[in-house]
Amino acid sequence: MGISHRNIFLQNLAQTSDMPLALEIERAEGLYLYDTEGRAYLDMISGIGVSGLGHRHPAILKAIETQSSKYLHTMVYGEFVLSPQVQLANLLHQVLPASLDNVYLVNSGAEAVEGAMKLAKRYTGRSEIIACKNAYHGSTQGAASLMDSNYFTGKFRPLLPNIKHIEFNREEDLDKISHDTACVIMETVQAEAGVIEPNEGYLQAVREKCTETGTLLILDEIQASYGRTGYLFAFQKYGIVPDILLLAKGFGGGLPLGAFISSKNIMSCLMDEPILGHITTFGGNPLCAATAFATLDTIIKDELWEGVERKSKILIEGLVHQKIKKINHCGLWMAIDLGKFELVLEVVQKCLGAGYLVDWFLFNSHSIRICPPLTIEEDDLRKFVVDFLAVLDGIN
Ligand SMILES: Cc1ncc(COP(=O)(O)O)c(C=O)c1O
Repeated sequence: MGISHRNIFLQNLAQTSDMPLALEIERAEGLYLYDTEGRAYLDMISGIGVSGLGHRHPAILKAIETQSSKYLHTMVYGEFVLSPQVQLANLLHQVLPASLDNVYLVNSGAEAVEGAMKLAKRYTGRSEIIACKNAYHGSTQGAASLMDSNYFTGKFRPLLPNIKHIEFNREEDLDKISHDTACVIMETVQAEAGVIEPNEGYLQAVREKCTETGTLLILDEIQASYGRTGYLFAFQKYGIVPDILLLAKGFGGGLPLGAFISSKNIMSCLMDEPILGHITTFGGNPLCAATAFATLDTIIKDELWEGVERKSKILIEGLVHQKIKKINHCGLWMAIDLGKFELVLEVVQKCLGAGYLVDWFLFNSHSIRICPPLTIEEDDLRKFVVDFLAVLDGIN
């Protein structure tokens, strides 16, 4: 008898923790993942914020088919005129504010963060970076330097110098932003902290302070954009425009793609002194750019942000239980606070048993992450509420 896939997974694929979910996936379609025993799991986390259109959306499959019949990789990013990249850039230009008219396509969220930090340093000639406590911007050494958690970064030091941390939503901390600051990087809505929205006026105050000091404002919308908050881009909800916008995760529609987006004026710094200020081989891979175009095009045509508030209301109103301490939410994205990690782990396992995939948050491990595909129907959500409450009832 051959060695099981599970054993090879555990033995020969690097593990990131000693408690992987270890579901063996056979296929995925729409809202559902199917394991090798044919069990269906409703994906209530969208592969951690990726599958906003669900799995294997027909528009994505069509884009893959069409593009793969033409070409895949041809040349490193930035040398050739490639229609999938051009179409994507053009569509982004149509839906973003005029000052965000220039996109640099990369491989991942972390690379978008790296590129944006380099761009801010190069443009301003400054080196200080200000980031928020409890923010997650990626796991490469530059992006990890932005984390304030010594638990996650202590063993990897030294990391980037000259990074200061402020408390998200604390306006007094904005005094730390000065003429020495190259950029402030923050999530428009804090994701791994457990879906923390900016208070009214907070992002305006950040914007003003950045403008006043010549500091670039980088908004990381790697989890928050593409309809999740009820707006195509989350910053639209708060009435400000960043100098640099970061996209990844759902951006590629299930294929790996990231982007940092700015003005042509700022971005042109990466062209000289030094030439090739950021280089990437696979950034903007034609297949990924084609699926990214199909994703954005579908979201816009279907106005997927439209149903978000109505759908989220079903969860907010339905999820009332003595074990639920509170719910943070922003659009169809929420953190259900159960008070302790052990309970969260038990609920995650029992939800799997009931046919639902849920998860927890990096910096808020006492809460359950809910972030379903935006294509989910209201009846699916009603059923989830009933089943989730039954899971909670079944725990002593
Ligand atoms: C808000 C945010 N920024 C950046 C990243 C890094 O993205 P990636 O995992 O593609 O490097 C993540 C990933 O979880 C994220 O949630």
